[in-house]
Amino acid sequence: MKLLFINGVNLNMTGVRERGVYGTQTLDEINADIAARFKEVECEFYQSNIEGEICTKLHTAKCDGIILNAGAFTHYSYAIRDAIASISIPVVEVHMSNVFKREEFRHKSVISEVCAGSIVGFGKNSYILAAESFLLKQNFQG
Ligand code: DQA
Repeated sequence: MKLLFINGVNLNMTGVRERGVYGTQTLDEINADIAARFKEVECEFYQSNIEGEICTKLHTAKCDGIILNAGAFTHYSYAIRDAIASISIPVVEVHMSNVFKREEFRHKSVISEVCAGSIVGFGKNSYILAAESFLLKQNFQG
């Protein structure tokens, strides 16, 4: 199984920005923990601050599942929404923070509707739970 983890705008600042919200680990450290946990899975990690680059990555993805933290793009990017809708690989939306406990603009996701599911509020474990969802599906057809 191959999984692609895509992180959007500002996620490269994880571990540096708003540490009380997003934790102290860098994105590279988080990705290393994920890869170590899913040794049997081929994990690819991609981050971009550029909306169109994320769309292109989605269009050209070759994998069994995509785990997407689009960052603030989540709340307004119809381009990323349409890119997800244009591919047949399932995409799970993740957020490290519980967006529903935060500012109102974060309560709206324009991508949820075209994603297989969403996991929010578990920090780094949001990515791990999303990856687990693909493994469960593979093993139990759930
Ligand atoms: C985030 C939540 C978004 O609202 C925010 O813009 C981010 C990170 C999260 O992982 O909690 O950049 O996607």
